[in-house]
Order: sequence, then C-alpha cells, then structure tokens
Amino acid sequence: MNKLEKTFPKGFLWGGAVAANQVEGAYNQDGKGLSTADVSPNGIMHPFDESMKDLNLYHDAIDFYHRYKEDIALFAEMGFKCFRLSISWPRIFPNGDDAEPNEAGLAFYEKVFDELHKHGIEPVVTISHYEMPLALVKNYGGWRNRKLVDLYETYAKTLFTRFKDKVKYWMTFNEINVVLHAPFTGGGLVFEEGDDEKSIQYQAAHHQFVASALAVKAGHEIIPDAKIGCMIAAMTTYPYSSRPEDMFAAIEQDRKTLFFSDVQARGYYPGYMKRYFLENDINIEFQEGDEDILRNHTVDYIGFSYYMSFVTSTDPEILGQVTGGNLFEGVKNPYLEASDWGWQIDPKGLRTTLNQLYDRYQKPLFIVENGLGAVDQVEEDGSIQDDYRIDYLRSHLLEAREAIADGVDLIGYTSWGPIDLVSASTAEMKKRYGFIYVDRDNEGNGTLDRKKKKSFDWYKQVIATNGEHLDY
Ligand code: BG6
Repeated sequence: MNKLEKTFPKGFLWGGAVAANQVEGAYNQDGKGLSTADVSPNGIMHPFDESMKDLNLYHDAIDFYHRYKEDIALFAEMGFKCFRLSISWPRIFPNGDDAEPNEAGLAFYEKVFDELHKHGIEPVVTISHYEMPLALVKNYGGWRNRKLVDLYETYAKTLFTRFKDKVKYWMTFNEINVVLHAPFTGGGLVFEEGDDEKSIQYQAAHHQFVASALAVKAGHEIIPDAKIGCMIAAMTTYPYSSRPEDMFAAIEQDRKTLFFSDVQARGYYPGYMKRYFLENDINIEFQEGDEDILRNHTVDYIGFSYYMSFVTSTDPEILGQVTGGNLFEGVKNPYLEASDWGWQIDPKGLRTTLNQLYDRYQKPLFIVENGLGAVDQVEEDGSIQDDYRIDYLRSHLLEAREAIADGVDLIGYTSWGPIDLVSASTAEMKKRYGFIYVDRDNEGNGTLDRKKKKSFDWYKQVIATNGEHLDY
C-alpha cells in the first residue's frame, strides 16, 4: 500500500497578517482622515464613542508607518513568502467621498509593497479591515446607505489601478460577518431609537456583498491574474449534546457565518436565509442588477480567520455557561482549554473547519489569521520564552497538514500579528500574538523597540522546511 504523504504543497504562502489601524499609528499624518478605529479607544466591540479619550493606542499603534522597513526585514529573516496587510481607507480617501485620492497615502503603500518585493515577499491586501472613514459614518450613516457601494468601488478601483503591478492577492472585507456582531466596526452603523437594527445590519451586509462583487469584477478587469478572495471569521459550532435539537441549533449558528461566504462564493442568497428573513420580517432591498452582479463575480478563494470553536445548546441552563470570543460568546466546551481571554483552543476544530469549507465550496482556502493572544514575560536576560505560543501554532499547523492530506486545497497560512500589535477586541497591547515583541504597554509607555521571541526561530524553521519540521 502506498504511504499517505502529509506535506504542505510547493509554493505554500507562509507569512503573517496585520491590519492598518492596529499597527500603523500616524493616525493624523500626511493627509489621513479619521477612521472609525480612531474613535474606538476601547476596541471594536464597543459602540461609537465620540469622546476621543486621550489614550487611544490605535493612534500611534506600533508605528509601522515609520518603521516598516525594519519590520519587513525581520519578516524576511523568518523567511516570509507573503505578508497580509490592510490599506487604511481614510489614508487614501480622507472623507471617503473625495474627488481625488490622497497621493501621500498611495505613496506610503507603494513604498511598503516595494520593500516587500525587495525581500521576495508577496503582499496580500485586505481592502477594508475593521475601519472606514469616519466621515462616511457621519455624512452617510455608514453601510446602511447604498451610496457606500459606489464609494467603495471607486476606492477599490483606485487601489487596483495604482498597484496592479505590485499586488496580486486581494481580499475585499475583513471578517465580513462582523457587521452582525460589531455593527459600528463592521458597517459604520450607529443606531437610533426606533431603528430596526437587524434589518439595517442585513441591508448593510447586502451593500457590502454588492460592493465586494463589483470589486471582484473591477479587480479581474484591471489585474487579469489577480486572486480576489472573501474573508470570514470562521467558527465551527458543536452541539452541546447529541439531542437532535442541539445538532440543528449548531447548524443554524454556523449558518450565521456561512451565509456570508455562501453569497460571496456561490453568488446567491441561500434558501435558509430567505426563510430567516421571511420569518423575522426582514426585507432586503435589492436594486435591479444586484442578483447578476453577485452571481457573475464570485470570489477566487475563501480567506478566513480561525481562533476557536463554539458550542451551542437548546437547554437554557447550559446556555448560561458562556465563554468569551472576539465576535460572539458560546457555551463552554468541557473538553477544551481556553486562553487568558477565554478563547477556547481547538486545533482539531481547524481541520473540521477546513474540511467543511472545502466540501461546501470546492474553492482554494487561505487561513489568513490564526494565533494565540497571550501575556508575555521579558526575562532578566531579555529573552521571551513563549513556548505556549509555539504549542498553539504547532498544534494548529499539524491539523492544517491533516486537512491537506484529507484533500483540502489550502494555499497559505498567515499567523495573526507576527509582530505585537494593538488588539482589536480590547484595544490593548498586553494581548500579544507576535514572534516579535514590541516594547509598548497598555498605558502607551515604551520605547517601541522590537525584540525576537523564542517563537521567531521556531517559525523560521517551519517556513524553511515548508512545514515539515513543526517541533522545537
Ligand atoms: C480578528 C480580527 O477577528 O481577530 C483582527 O480580524 C483581530 O483584527 C484578531 O486583531 C484577534 O483579535 P484580538 O481582539 O485579540 O485583537
């Protein structure tokens, strides 16, 4: 009998992922407009906070804006094949509806892409990651307004045109399903009394679907060999018990997420959502032509983040035992350990997720976020012994390798926050994901110096052996 090969494919895209507002800083420099993140001092899960508290770590973040060369050199030292970053929309269109783009913003990203290519690193770009020009919230009401579709299309076309020779891999919206869980961050939505919140959220999602499909269309026209993906926060849900009702509840929970990839990968609204809309009196306004746009411009690959799995139940007593998560809470799984922030660690769930997504879509998959947010200790000798992070990543990569052996077409893996950055859900520095430590604390103190952790050399070895040596 032939032996089963368990390897990562040739040309696998190893790397790391960040978002503009979590690393760049320079929030008001070189013509950048304010973004929704700039007024979210407590993180994405909190509603619009106009107070602009003095301490907003996103304002300076880790100063990637000025230190990108040093950081990219460190990524290159680890052997990165790709680097996922997002473009700050208000750096390009400060108000979102400006007649002309801000040249300084475009020039910044051009320099970053050139630096990446100098080191043989392929940029993977998210067009909109958890932020948008604040002016679009104030003047248009965010994504509830259809006008955002045109404004986003102009923004995306501007990027494709300018960077057509520098960027091949794109994603339209980070965790597009976040609009249901953090509506201000995901959709720039601020609700007023009397608003039918659910309808507004789904209408905003529809606008994003159309905008995304139009971006896929434009991207393919402007960059014929572009690969344009969607990006969802994937969180497989288990039934708490084998009660048939629990099983179906888990399916329904997953559909809240899969609805987003279903529309973007298959090109139409699934029947289960039509039923949900009908039963909940939600009317989505489709403009003439929307159905064709969605159907004709589906994504080339499915990008997704995976941090944890969830459990659901139909038993109200069990439902009371909740645990944390970045987007939504679920029931505690008695078989799993959790991070310091309550995120349940489940490597096997990654294999399940990969198989489910591939069975469903038969399109290439890209794990564009995965990692452990943890408190790191700098030892007296200056070292950082982050074995727990290596354990987390190693166990997930082992399961990714299993999924590939199951037949899943996985094209890449970018761990979240290869360099410490400001967290999205809690807006703090203490929750670190990096192979590279950044000297900055929750109060904003620190030199911003970079330092390699133990995991740095481990990841370097993983990439050098194309995932063959995952031990340390
Ligand atoms: C993902 C986001 O949901 O989770 C990232 O795309 C985020 O922006 C990451 O940083 C980890 O979440 P957190 O809250 O630990 O930063």
